[in-house]
Parts: sequence; structure tokens; C-alpha cells
Amino acid sequence: MRLYAHIRGWGKYVPPQVMTNDDIARFVDTNAEWIFSRTGIAERRIAGKDDTTTTMAYKAGLAALSAADADPAKVELIIVATMTPDRVMPSTASLVQSLIGAEKAAAFDLGAACSGFVYAYSVASQLIASGAYRNALVIGSDAMSHILDWNDRGTCILFGDAAGAFYLEADEQEGGMLAFELGSDGSGGNLLTGPTVGNSYVPSCGPDLKYNALDMNGRAVFRFATRIMGHAAEEALQKAGLTKDQVDLFIPHQANIRIIESAAKQLGLSMDKVYVNIHRYGNTSAASIPVAFCEAVEEGRLKDGDNVVVVGFGGGLTWAAAVMKWVAVPEEPQDPYSARVARRWVRYQRARLGSLKHRVEHIMDDWLETGSRIVEKQAKRRDPKERSEKE
Ligand code: UT7
Repeated sequence: MRLYAHIRGWGKYVPPQVMTNDDIARFVDTNAEWIFSRTGIAERRIAGKDDTTTTMAYKAGLAALSAADADPAKVELIIVATMTPDRVMPSTASLVQSLIGAEKAAAFDLGAACSGFVYAYSVASQLIASGAYRNALVIGSDAMSHILDWNDRGTCILFGDAAGAFYLEADEQEGGMLAFELGSDGSGGNLLTGPTVGNSYVPSCGPDLKYNALDMNGRAVFRFATRIMGHAAEEALQKAGLTKDQVDLFIPHQANIRIIESAAKQLGLSMDKVYVNIHRYGNTSAASIPVAFCEAVEEGRLKDGDNVVVVGFGGGLTWAAAVMKWVAVPEEPQDPYSARVARRWVRYQRARLGSLKHRVEHIMDDWLETGSRIVEKQAKRRDPKERSEKE
């Protein structure tokens, strides 16, 4: 009996603060027309003081669980694809686990830059197809504004902040993830780099990388992207046993409209089969594909049985393509809306209380440990034998 990982829920979070091309032109030497004509970007969202990679991931993840009407306490696996974790440790996935109250879930971050979400989606789908897990929450979340050099017009115009998520469940019905193609070429690692942890010197990359900000050779990455996107999609389609003309919707990483058009051309797809929202958000790294997927669903761009291809590329260099068959969520007799909202509220509160209980236990453990150490020290000070030994 073969198992398939189906997307049962999808969710996104984009920060409310909008930064337009004109806003950027106020502090770097550029103009709105140049940015839009060379990239297709009109505006992007920027994380506010309450938005971090973790909080955005949490909100998108919760939205995906809510769309599936799934119980957070029953989530078995959480993978967060990100290159901008709030901290190197703990992982963003572990923090999300605690925030949503997924007490039973394994959790880890996955780093494959802008290809990260499709990598994470592929890993989770395989763990589900193998029978190891029955469900998984896969999130792509990046606060790119935190690592940009806002004086570098070659990069700061491109990126935005967001998070997107899939909630996957095992099912015997054929569909969901059909095939994937993952790849990497570390020899191009120096073409797109992010902040370091202490020492940036890697012999093959050279020592002169920017230390604390994103740095990019735009033209070289552009050439790589136009070469790899169509190729990765074709490889994944071949593995799925499908041809290019069987693709119903193509959801590429939203990095540059010219890269997207070139990939569509390579695949022989007209632009009406390509989902584009780059004008609204710019390049949101690991969040770009799940956010685009959510909006494609919201806009009614997916029909039951559609073949969907997603392709990402980015730093590493890395690339990742996946082919999925969209099977609409089975219609079940629905409770009245108010009953569903109430049930969800009870589940979330119960899951969060479970998580809170663990946090309180950690605090109590710490207090008890500290308390017993103080008592031990005081007892030793009072012990005359020990005192005379010291003297
Ligand atoms: O997730 C993956 C992330 N990365 C990417 O996908 C990026 C891929 N690369 C690109 O999207 C493009 O290479 C860019 C949008 C970054 C740059 O566009 P381009 O058409 O490749 O421009 P260019 O680097 O060839 O530069 C053309 C000219 C240069 O001036 P000169 O030397 O011809 O006088 C640049 O200095 O445009 C200039 N330029 C700008 N002018 C106004 C570069 N950035 C800007 C700017 N505003 N923001």
C-alpha cells in the first residue's frame, strides 16, 4: 500500500508594512522605473518590530493548520526552511513547536536558501510516504530585511519578508507530491552569501566576503537561474512520468520576472499557466513558493486533479523542483461555522497550555536546582569539619 503526502492546509503571513520602489529610491541611488522594469517588483513587505522569522513562521503555520482544521497537539513533524533564523540555536522549528503547542512533534530547520521550502517539502513528503510520520507542518520563513545591506542597490531592492506553510497528511489516494529533483553546486557558493558566524574564510570562496549582510553577484546568479529552473522542472516532470504539456500550473520562485519568463519559455508554457505575485512581495526567499501557492488557491487557480510544478533556486548554489497532483480537500459534512471556530479555539488553547506547562516545568526545575545548590553551599559553610579543613 503506497502512501502519498497530500497538502491539506496552506497558510501565509506577510507583515503589514509596505515598502514601495519610491520609498527605496529615497535612500539609495535607484528609481522605481528601473526596479520594476528589471525585476517586476513594485513593492515588498518589511518585518515590523513584532515580526521575526519565528513569529512569521508561527502565524503561517497556524493558518495552515487552521485551513486543514488540524489539531496542533497531533502534529508529528515540523520543518522550517530559513536562512534568517532569529538565532543559530534553538532552531526556529523548535520555537514554532512550542508556540503552537505541538508537543509530540520532531522539529528541525533546513538551510537551502531560496530553494529551502521545496527541499523541506520533499523531505517531509518522503518521511510521510515511507510511513514514518502521518503528518507534517512545512514552513518557509525569512526576514530578509534583517540581513540586507541597505546601501547596496544591487540587493536591497530585491527582497522582502514573509512566511508560508503547508500542512501535509498521509493518504492512500494517489496525488500530492509525485516527484522531486534536488541539486546543489557549492562551487558557486561565493556568488550569493549571507552573514557569517565568526569566521568567513572558506578557502574556495576567498576571504573577502561581506561579513554581516547578504552579498550577491546579480548577473552570475541570473545566468545560473535561467539555466537551472527549466532544467530542474524537466527532471522532476520526467521522474513523475509527465510531459511539459501536462503542466496545469507552474509556481516558480519569485526572484525576478525575467527569470520566471525565461523558465516558462524553456518549458513551453504560456504565462497564463504561470503564477506570479513578485510585484507585491519581491523575493521572499524560502517563503516565496508557499506564499504564491496560497494566493493561487485563494484566487481559484487550482482545480481538482491539476498537475502543479514548483521550482526554487538560490544560494548554495541550490535548486529544487517538485511535481504535485492537486487533490482538492475532501468535502466532509461541516459543523456550523461557530462550532468549528469554538472547537479550534479549544484545541489551540489546550495545545498552548500543554506547551506552557513544559515551560513552567523548566522554570521550576531551574528554581529547585538553584535552591538545592544554595542549601548545599550553606550546609557546607556550617559544617565545622569542612571549615577546619579549609583553615
Ligand atoms: O533567490 C535568488 C536571488 N537572486 C536573484 O535572483 C538575482 C538574480 N539577478 C537579478 O535579478 C539581476 O541581475 C539584478 C536585478 C540584480 C540586476 O539586474 P541586471 O539587469 O542584471 O543589471 P546589471 O547588474 O547588469 O546592471 C546594469 C546597470 C549597471 O550599470 P552600468 O554598469 O551598466 O552603468 C548597474 O550599476 O544597472 C545598474 N544598477 C542599477 N541602476 C539603478 C544596478 N542596480 C541598480 C539599481 N538601480 N537598483
